[in-house]
Amino acid sequence: MKKILITGGAGYIGSHTAVELWNAGLEPIILDDLSNSHAQVLQRLKEITGKSFSFYKGDCNDRVVLDQISREHDIAGVIHFAAFKAVGESTIKPLDYYKNNLGSLLVLLEYMRDKGIKDLVFSSSCTVYGQPDQLPVTETTPRKEAESPYGNTKKIGEDILLDYVKSKPGIRIIALRYFNPVGAHPSGKIGELPIGIPQNLVPFITQTAAGIREKLVVFGDDYDTSDGSCIRDYIHVVDLANAHGKALAYLFSQELNFFDVFNVGTGKGNTVLEVIRSFESVTGLKLNYEIGPRRAGDVIKTWADTRKINNVLGWHAKYTLDDCMRDSWRWQQTLTSKDLPT
Ligand code: NAD
Ligand code: UD1
Repeated sequence: MKKILITGGAGYIGSHTAVELWNAGLEPIILDDLSNSHAQVLQRLKEITGKSFSFYKGDCNDRVVLDQISREHDIAGVIHFAAFKAVGESTIKPLDYYKNNLGSLLVLLEYMRDKGIKDLVFSSSCTVYGQPDQLPVTETTPRKEAESPYGNTKKIGEDILLDYVKSKPGIRIIALRYFNPVGAHPSGKIGELPIGIPQNLVPFITQTAAGIREKLVVFGDDYDTSDGSCIRDYIHVVDLANAHGKALAYLFSQELNFFDVFNVGTGKGNTVLEVIRSFESVTGLKLNYEIGPRRAGDVIKTWADTRKINNVLGWHAKYTLDDCMRDSWRWQQTLTSKDLPT
């Protein structure tokens, strides 16, 4: 069984990816400093898969721990999730974001070079497109200037990878540009752990329904969309996790010095009000919300053209928006009633 190092593997997308890799016949080796996750996730992964994954608590900027991992495991490929991801915080602490998100990538690339590890999947974001001039967004849609230091770390990260591959280091890399990951594992055992007041829509919805927040404010209903609220492409985290196994399988079959990017979304855009309606219909709850002013800097509408990932990687999203809401709500209820912190 090939062993895959997952940096940030205790986090939201990384933990779901560990499960899906295991289901696909790959063994995850997890490195995480737990700066935005919880050690209990490892126990939850065991409950879901029946397997105790190797876990290293450490910083991806720390070459010592990476070398230790390679002494103990023959690593066939890497998925690099480890990063800080709070857009607002990145405008207050830009150096922390550049240091952690780009520093860890550079340390990781040097480590892979020295150990002869050839395959890397990098977590990028649809944020690199900003407000696209045409929809749906294809991979050739020009990237826009980043709106935040966080977004810039993804853009620069992609540039570093492309420049590196051009130097012919004998490596193969895919950058996956995630649209809006939502939902949780259907078991209710793992999901997103937002710290403090959530900035993202779906955790805010579920926390409002759980009584943790008083009400959701919809950021504007006077945009040029079907009901006036913004449009995003909401992708279930298990579907997104699956794309990583597909990306690795594809990389393994490519010539060396390969770099490509893929959108990961459903190909369908939904408005904020449609998301609320979906949540209400699957839970039978009435959500307390009101229409508020627009959020500064918000993208009005974006959704993915998924033909490239469908055709080249053979990956398709399976879960619906209703599935996303049902699973997010199940996870939220676990959080409020059980042991993982809110
Ligand atoms: P997350 O915060 O839940 O997971 C990231 C994990 O990395 C956390 O467990 C954290 O403890 C760990 N980490 C951070 N810095 C580290 C370091 N230096 N060394 C070791 N571990 C470290 O975030 P997520 O939502 O799972 O995101 C995973 C990746 O996907 C990130 O790169 C993020 O930027 C990217 N991404 C996320 C979204 C989203 O909406 N969630 C969208 C696009 C891209
Ligand atoms: C945000 C980030 C983006 C990041 C993505 C995933 C910004 C400007 N962008 O994008 O870089 O990749 O999260 O983490 O922060 N909404 C409400 N009320 C709320 C919260 C959100 O109406 O309380 C609306 C927003 O206006 C938007 C939609 O819900 O239309 C989704 O918002 P959000 O979850 O924050 O994601 P993005 O804006 O897509």
